[in-house]
Amino acid sequence: MTQNPKNSLNWALITGASSGIGRDLAKCFAGDGWSVILTARRLPELQKLAQELSNQFQVQTLCLAKDLNEPTAPGEIFQELQSKKLTVSALVNNAGFGHYGHFANTDITQELKLLQVNIVALTHLTKLFLKSMVAQSHGYILNVGSTAGFQAGPLMAVYYASKAYVVSFTEALANELQDSGVKVSALCPGPTETEFSQVAGLEGTNLFKKMHVMESFAVAKAGFDGLMEGKILVIPGLMNKLTVQSNRISPRKWVTRVVRGVQERNPS
Ligand SMILES: NC(=O)c1ccc[n+]([C@@H]2O[C@H](COP(=O)([O-])OP(=O)(O)OC[C@H]3O[C@@H](n4cnc5c(N)ncnc54)[C@H](OP(=O)(O)O)[C@@H]3O)[C@@H](O)[C@H]2O)c1
Repeated sequence: MTQNPKNSLNWALITGASSGIGRDLAKCFAGDGWSVILTARRLPELQKLAQELSNQFQVQTLCLAKDLNEPTAPGEIFQELQSKKLTVSALVNNAGFGHYGHFANTDITQELKLLQVNIVALTHLTKLFLKSMVAQSHGYILNVGSTAGFQAGPLMAVYYASKAYVVSFTEALANELQDSGVKVSALCPGPTETEFSQVAGLEGTNLFKKMHVMESFAVAKAGFDGLMEGKILVIPGLMNKLTVQSNRISPRKWVTRVVRGVQERNPS
């Protein structure tokens, strides 16, 4: 197989690469010459993407079907890559999902899975892959948060709180690693055209009906560029930047009420 000489020894591990922002982040890395390890539950989607990327960019690819809801999955991914002697220079913690509804009525099984995938697996993978990056004084970690991480989110209380964790964790890590040669960023998209709204049960809510919805590739490209430039927080799109800034300076109770309005299903 021909290899792109630019980054041919650099492997990027991308979680949630079977769809949406993760799939487009894989395209950004491969387009820059990185070899990519693609992981998610749906193997056929990963294999299709791997074929596209190796044809288009002549990069090496590896697909790993894993369910990050399984607490053992991060360790299994790490072991599998160790046994293949693959050094991961970029980790993209993108896999995640939301769950819509009043907390009093929602399914706790789904919410515990959400916490496992959005928080626990992300933290565990970071712990496992960071050590060798620090030892080599070189590496990249991109955690996919959300504009949801900057305020409370009624009707998706657990999801918003999970993304607040991602933002806080990433900012702290970036500070600890500032002189280490490892770059750490949080990509914080607003509403984006992917499978997310369907999986979360958000159809018909004002969030996706009335807010500006960005295209997935534009979001991924902003994340990739921001990571390479060493930006800690990457908020793609002017509307999303303005929303986050205005929420920061507004009374928290008021912001929560506004978010509630956006999250409602409005028949009009
Ligand atoms: N779209 C938005 O509006 C939006 C806004 C802000 C932030 N985000 C964040 O962006 C990230 C990517 O979401 P997306 O919008 O691209 O949605 P998506 O199209 O639904 O993609 C989610 C990805 O996560 C993977 N995933 C979900 N559960 C998993 C599990 N248990 N184990 C392994 N992989 C799992 C899915 O793969 P499989 O189903 O094949 O496992 C899929 O590849 C998420 O962290 C999301 O919270 C999205």
